[in-house]
Amino acid sequence: MVTISTLCQAKDQGRKFSAVSCYDYTSARLVAAAGVEVLMAGDSAAQFMLGFDSTLPVTMDFMSAITAAVKRAAPDCLIIADLPYESCKAGIERVLKDSQRFVNEAGADIVKIETSIEQFDAVKAVIDAGISVMPHLGIRPQTGTYKAEGATAEAAEQLIKLADKVYQAGAPVLLLEGTAREVAKIITQRVSIPVISCGSGPDCDGQVLVLPDILNLNAGPVPKFSKSFAEIGKAYIEAIALYVKEVKQGLYPDDAHCYHMRAGEYEKLEKLIS
Ligand code: KIV
Repeated sequence: MVTISTLCQAKDQGRKFSAVSCYDYTSARLVAAAGVEVLMAGDSAAQFMLGFDSTLPVTMDFMSAITAAVKRAAPDCLIIADLPYESCKAGIERVLKDSQRFVNEAGADIVKIETSIEQFDAVKAVIDAGISVMPHLGIRPQTGTYKAEGATAEAAEQLIKLADKVYQAGAPVLLLEGTAREVAKIITQRVSIPVISCGSGPDCDGQVLVLPDILNLNAGPVPKFSKSFAEIGKAYIEAIALYVKEVKQGLYPDDAHCYHMRAGEYEKLEKLIS
């Protein structure tokens, strides 16, 4: 059973851990079977599952449903829910209510919230309510901006200050997306909580990638930091093309893939319908 303490121990002992953002039961089951410790039901589902061009349109109902599916598939992994834009923009009460909902309804262990200084009070309110929050700093896709963060000393200082602030407020884990490696390293060393990198370099305690990138399922451009580890998109198309071919050729289904009547019932039926 992976818990926040498991990740803290890994950090203390210098062991890296992995996280994957995935969105459905079948995928989550395979990801967990591969030994991934942390599963995130990310709002990138808006793009990869629903075909939108940003993460903004996903609803809380949808996010809760996919988080619950991931939890059912991988009850022994640490499950992170992702607070959608519709909740974040609606103010503290809604952020609190939906974070609670993720825990009660979907079984999330942690709620990820894209956090700028403006969202700090909402994040603090959720932490104070006893919910484990993972502030998501650096590139925050809900802003629509995908420019690397912490590239200048001034910007880096702001980011470090914000990381310190959420750490001191009681966040048990932190996510840094698209942050300059040097800055991610400083933050990882400053805080005693685990820091997960999404494109922020190897010095963080853990790494996260989205499953469609790992498997190379995408047609579109991928971020600089992303890496695919197998050509599953190609294998996927090949498998389905073979199915199509066998259907057209009458090879599928063969008799081995058919149900049959019980012995003697066909003859009985023939008499009944003659
Ligand atoms: O939405 C998402 O999948 C994410 C992770 C990649 C961190 O935010």
